[in-house]
Amino acid sequence: MRVLSGIQPTGRFHWGNYFGAIQQYIDLQDEDEAYYFIANLHGLTTIRDPDLLRQYTHDAALDLLALGLDPGRATLFVQSDVPQVSELTWLLMTGTPMGLLERCHAFKEKKEKGLTAEAGLFTYPVLMAADILAYDSNIVPVGADQVQHIEVCRDLARSFNHHFGDVFVIPEAQVLKSAAKVPGTDGEKMSKGYDNTIEVFEEIAAQRKKIMRIPTDSRPLEDPKDPDQDHLFQLYSLFADPDQREQMAATYRAGGFGYGEVKKKLAEVAELFFAEARARRATLEKDPDYVSGVLKDGAERARTKASEVLARVQQACGMRQ
Ligand code: TRP
Repeated sequence: MRVLSGIQPTGRFHWGNYFGAIQQYIDLQDEDEAYYFIANLHGLTTIRDPDLLRQYTHDAALDLLALGLDPGRATLFVQSDVPQVSELTWLLMTGTPMGLLERCHAFKEKKEKGLTAEAGLFTYPVLMAADILAYDSNIVPVGADQVQHIEVCRDLARSFNHHFGDVFVIPEAQVLKSAAKVPGTDGEKMSKGYDNTIEVFEEIAAQRKKIMRIPTDSRPLEDPKDPDQDHLFQLYSLFADPDQREQMAATYRAGGFGYGEVKKKLAEVAELFFAEARARRATLEKDPDYVSGVLKDGAERARTKASEVLARVQQACGMRQ
């Protein structure tokens, strides 16, 4: 079974990215053959500053390696290092119904707002389909917001197979545990768009400050409180072990505590939780050649597989003798 997923390099990873996706990708690398890539071609639809895109792409690799992605077990690469994917995108595009893409959320929402969309946004799902099909992927772990794109991919693959013979492996989405469990500093879902994120590798002092500034309600200190209704408690729970979590819940129910105490504890457990990754990141940061080497090896492996699949597709649709 081959697992594949992509992550857009659109900024520093935050707790929502980690608990919503990255942690689960890393868990999957032990079970199956895993391919993970940094989707810089998709990123280019929003990041139009070349230095920034380069920086984010490198940082994404660094962060993933620091967080435990192991290049010995998983193949890590950058999307644009595999040009076969772009070629496959065209082959798929020739048979993609406009209506299928018109129904996709990202494009639809932009249009409904009266904004003009680029062809890159419109055809984004076809590139994503090529990403998946180029490696004969079986399982695609994604957030719930990406399930529609996997459906598009399955549609395109099935219709191509119907027309040209059995060419593509039909992938399945594996919906990741909900990232909605990771609230942002305002209690809404943690997301860059809401400006309520806490970055995984934010500098410790800055991170502490940010945590101490999380807004809380103004109920009196002595009131008992329901932990399950409180976003500070939810954040604390992500990092705490079951005993710590139970203790904190009991404190909430008993009342007579200040949110400042909870914030301090939250900062402590979060720091401890990422301490090893932070140290690994500092080491990797000093060794950019190692990171480039990992991406180069990954790209080679990915290209080998993608060339084999592309040749099969080209043969099927009359591009080869
Ligand atoms: N569109 C995905 C996202 O924004 C990233 C992505 C690109 C992807 N290609 C993919 C995910 C292929 C899974 C498979 O999250």
